[in-house]
Amino acid sequence: MEPKVPLDFLGELRRTHSCGALRASDAGARVLLMGWVHKRRDLGGVIFIDLRDRDGITQVVFRADLEPAIHEKAELLRPEFVAAVEGELALRSPETVNSNIATGEVEVVAGKLWILNDSRTPPFPMDEFVDVAEDVRLKYRFVDLRRPHMQRNVMLRARISFGMREQLNSMGFLEIETPFMTRSTPEGARDYLVPSRVQPGHFYALPQSPQLFKQLLMIGGYEKYFQIVRCFRDEDLRADRQPEFTQLDLEMSFPQPDRIFEVIEPVVQKACDIAGISVAIPFPRITYREAMESYGSDKPDQRLPPFRVVTDLFQGTPLLSGDLPLVAIRTPGTGQLSRKERGDLAEFGRQCGLKVFDDVRSLEKSFPAAIAAVRERTGAGDEDTILLATWAGEPRPHRPHQAVLEACGQLRLHTGQKYNDRHKLLDPKTMKLLWVVDFPMFEWDEEEGRWAAAHHPFTSVHDDDLNKLTTDPANCRAKSYDLVLNGTELGSGSIRIHRRDVQAKVFSALGMSDEEARYRFGFLLTALEYGAPPHGGIALGLDRLVMILAGENSIRDVIPFPKTAKGTDLMCEAPSRVPERALRELGIQIRRQ
Ligand code: AMO
Repeated sequence: MEPKVPLDFLGELRRTHSCGALRASDAGARVLLMGWVHKRRDLGGVIFIDLRDRDGITQVVFRADLEPAIHEKAELLRPEFVAAVEGELALRSPETVNSNIATGEVEVVAGKLWILNDSRTPPFPMDEFVDVAEDVRLKYRFVDLRRPHMQRNVMLRARISFGMREQLNSMGFLEIETPFMTRSTPEGARDYLVPSRVQPGHFYALPQSPQLFKQLLMIGGYEKYFQIVRCFRDEDLRADRQPEFTQLDLEMSFPQPDRIFEVIEPVVQKACDIAGISVAIPFPRITYREAMESYGSDKPDQRLPPFRVVTDLFQGTPLLSGDLPLVAIRTPGTGQLSRKERGDLAEFGRQCGLKVFDDVRSLEKSFPAAIAAVRERTGAGDEDTILLATWAGEPRPHRPHQAVLEACGQLRLHTGQKYNDRHKLLDPKTMKLLWVVDFPMFEWDEEEGRWAAAHHPFTSVHDDDLNKLTTDPANCRAKSYDLVLNGTELGSGSIRIHRRDVQAKVFSALGMSDEEARYRFGFLLTALEYGAPPHGGIALGLDRLVMILAGENSIRDVIPFPKTAKGTDLMCEAPSRVPERALRELGIQIRRQ
């Protein structure tokens, strides 16, 4: 396509300043700026251009009375054209000062103009407050990336990555790369496979995480490793999941969990600092069991208060559902909810399998002492809503106690979210960070009918539970921990198994035969025989961290080139079919369904 207007060459032009740099104190300077035409106003004899680069916006004025030829050329400019402008920096008259932008006191009086490129009319305006359908944004991502909130997010991400690197370097951690073309590293998702041309029928797996390599680096004697690394997982996607995402991954030798916390807390603190949010360290800790008993979740959002089990207060009353817990959920500051509002909450609870008593005032008439005790135990004030909930009845769920607590956890969150707008309970600027520790070692996998690793199969069991590995797996605690931020799992880690015999026992507890263990992880088992030090580590989801710090609801808004929920890159249309010849070379034949 021919350009719409004659174009100039960049030649030897160099900018003197960015479009966000100039201030009143620079008035009189000769400046040369480059950027995109953000807006253009033509007032006849005077044309104003807002010139934009990643640093900001500067107003440029083209005056027909001073430079008629340049003014005429400026008439060609349209939004998103790329231009260079040279001129003298002038103070704006007081009534035209724009106090909304940092350069609002000055303007460049253009003496020269170079049009470096034209642009088609962009598919949507560059204004961040214009709502644009996400599929259009993703198709034209190169344009979307110019919008102010994307620029802010991507630049924040870069500053956070840099800050984390600096912090870890200062603590003696080495940044070491690990391979992308490797063998399966299980983290609970499916692998993306890469076929080998030279060994037809053989496949590499893209790493779900560098887990095994970082352990091998400890065995290799590097003691403190980190990497800001891409991971690949073929799993169902949600707002906080992508098929390829980035972890801040680290591992160290000779640690207790406390040592890992001491390392990661200042790293997270620094990231928050960079985003202009201050958080205190150390972060609080609770055990998995406490998290379940108080929040019904292993990733509690502590911006809302915990719930309380109040079964003991209602013994012998029809409120109880057999031996299952009765839970009191307090939501602060909602004011008195209408009957309809309470009914909606009860309906949500019903969908989670709960029986909800939403009218505490009427219960108070029948059970005054018990309700007074509930108020005291939950710390409820007059403006708070209390819901009592227990299991609705048959069928009795699998692991019933846990099921009631989890359902109450959902109701607690739902109620908080529903009345958030009104009462700002879940303020995105409040950062509630906490460690959840002592997870169970195993989870029962219904489908497979066997135990599965709750974290991953390389996680160490609690010293006290080592002899229960094969006899009582349900009650083995793992040396694992999660870092939770506002109800999102930000990171996860553990102390690893460094003994060959223990690793073999855990594989066996997971129902893996010796043969299968050797086939899948033979290299790890062998490495454990050659002086593996005690070691452990953690990985943080960088996308999730930046998402929360940027105040976004989707990780797609902090990833320059994300994929849709179906795993598609709408811009370059990946995944795509490949020519028959490429498949033949790889020895692959596609079976059409
Ligand atoms: P885990 O599987 O818990 O642990 O992952 C660590 C963190 O990575 C982030 N995360 C994701 N972010 C975006 N999209 C995804 N699909 C996705 N999956 C995970 C989460 C999560 O907390 N090797 C272990 C860590 C270790 O033991 O050291 C691991 O990968 O924020």
